[in-house]
Amino acid sequence: MIPIGPLMKEHRLIEHMISLTKAELLTIAADRRADLVFMDTVIDFFKTYGDRCHHGKEEEILFAGLKSKKLSSVHEALIEELIEEHRIARQTTQELVEANERYKSGSLTALDDIGKLLNFLVTFYPAHIAKEDKSFFYPCMEYFTKEELASMLNRFWEFDRKLIHEKYSLTVAALEETRATGPDAPPPFRDV
Ligand SMILES: [Fe+2]
Ligand SMILES: [Fe+2]
Repeated sequence: MIPIGPLMKEHRLIEHMISLTKAELLTIAADRRADLVFMDTVIDFFKTYGDRCHHGKEEEILFAGLKSKKLSSVHEALIEELIEEHRIARQTTQELVEANERYKSGSLTALDDIGKLLNFLVTFYPAHIAKEDKSFFYPCMEYFTKEELASMLNRFWEFDRKLIHEKYSLTVAALEETRATGPDAPPPFRDV
């Protein structure tokens, strides 16, 4: 397997979430209310899976590896474009977190903001994924030797292996910052 294998597999899962989100948008528009469980799930998916797990491997391993190569001007420009798109996706997801919090607090405008932000994401991801799948991933593999591709794949697995520990370390650290712990609690967790 070459490193774009797992990345393309991740694209397929993201497409399933996009499809679920499109259906949820119809329900939101019809019922004029957002399902809080779906909102928490979709936000966690785009934050943890879309951004941290998927864009994380692309930026920190694949793009970083490509930047050490002599790239064509087309591929060089494409990497910058993709990084900018990741930044926009991250910002939109953060805005969705905030809109969801406002919705939970009873804000009257928050539901429309949630609709706009989810609509942006269901349009953004398919276009971004198509760009990577059709114009970027395969030609990019040509810059690496067989050994470099094998090493990149191993770094992907290592990145994924650490992710579950990172996620729950951050979860516990964030909870300890906002909530009281029991009388026999250990010192706050900081190894993240
Ligand atoms: Fe990407
Ligand atoms: Fe991607």
